[in-house]
Amino acid sequence: MPKKGESKVIDTILNRRSVREFMDKPVSKEDINTILNAGHWAPSGLNNQPWRFIVIQNQEAIQRISECTHYSGIVVGAPLLIATFLDTENSYNRTKDIEAIGAAIQNMLLTCCELGLGGVWLGEILNKKEKINYILECPSNLELMSALAIGEPIPKERTSTRKALNEIAFDDKYGTRWEE
Ligand SMILES: Cc1cc2nc3c(=O)[nH]c(=O)nc-3n(C[C@H](O)[C@H](O)[C@H](O)COP(=O)(O)O)c2cc1C
Repeated sequence: MPKKGESKVIDTILNRRSVREFMDKPVSKEDINTILNAGHWAPSGLNNQPWRFIVIQNQEAIQRISECTHYSGIVVGAPLLIATFLDTENSYNRTKDIEAIGAAIQNMLLTCCELGLGGVWLGEILNKKEKINYILECPSNLELMSALAIGEPIPKERTSTRKALNEIAFDDKYGTRWEE
């Protein structure tokens, strides 16, 4: 366990930024396995592991998937996509299973960061989830939850913002703002 104040996880959480432009370079098999394992080791209700992942590196598939989203430029520019699905046939509670899948996706994004890779969580693509299932030859019990576009980041400064903690956290009861 890291000592208090030395946590790499917290640094990675705070420094991760969505990356939408990638170098033209494949992601190694070793790194893909590390990313998948990080997703798979997320917590899940009853440990039912409701996620299913499809690793997509085939250029023709990436091109076809890019046509399913407004963010086609991000998708075609990525050497790797990881599509994450809920296996509805192995779901015990839809809300909790989707929460677990969110944890798996965030684990994968953080792992990309640790590996010197970058990624972005693509949600808008869910508008065409049936078409993605068709392209990837998925059975209908697999419901698309997200696609991650992953690759080596093109170097540039990436910033983001968050609301102040006292806007979204409360002390003892709703309405009493949390003071840092
Ligand atoms: C559920 C979800 C859906 C998202 N969908 C998209 C998307 O379709 N396209 C995109 O460019 N970014 C998408 N993002 C990334 C967010 O825009 C990004 O996380 C947010 O702006 C904060 O920036 P940061 O990740 O750099 O901190 C999505 C993020 C989440 C969690």
